[in-house]
Amino acid sequence: MHKPLAFTASLALGLAFLASGAAALERVAPQVDTSVLPAQTYEWTEPNPLRGNPQAAALGQSAFNQSCARCHGADANGSRSPAPDLRRIGMGCRRIADPALRQRCTADADAFFVKSVRWGKQKFGIVHMPPWEGVLSPEVVWSLRSFVESTPAR
Ligand code: HEC
Repeated sequence: MHKPLAFTASLALGLAFLASGAAALERVAPQVDTSVLPAQTYEWTEPNPLRGNPQAAALGQSAFNQSCARCHGADANGSRSPAPDLRRIGMGCRRIADPALRQRCTADADAFFVKSVRWGKQKFGIVHMPPWEGVLSPEVVWSLRSFVESTPAR
């Protein structure tokens, strides 16, 4: 009599665990109005075409809090482990005095950001971050980058 009950209970727990795991990796498409951005064709090629654009940073903040914050912390505050603090990406470039070299460094950081977001992060078959390719357009990802960059790090 006890055995089936225990089995049912553990099965239910197992299913609940699986469901929460799947929900954690669900990609939530942000609801944002990209018509506030300059009208042009946006590509994945770096450097970020929306760097320093305040409308893009505001749009990026909204998108971030809808899609990324549950893993990376509200407003990218870096409070959530194990997801890394995104404000650090490319920060070191600001200390480079040579303008051409600084630009190369920043473009490289942009490329890393975009690559991480589009293809996600998988290690040994375990998904740490889902791929966002097909969910987020280039202008939304560049806006996310603009927001993260405009947010002061700790
Ligand atoms: C399900 C949780 C989750 C969600 C949602 C998520 N991420 Fe991540 N992200 C992670 C984890 C965990 C890592 C670190 C993975 C690793 O290094 O293996 C990561 C890594 C990254 C990296 C690379 C950072 C570095 O320094 O290595 C970037 C960039 C990034 N995420 C951006 C985003 C953006 C932008 C969004 C929203 C569109 C997002 N992530 C949504 C969990 C998430």
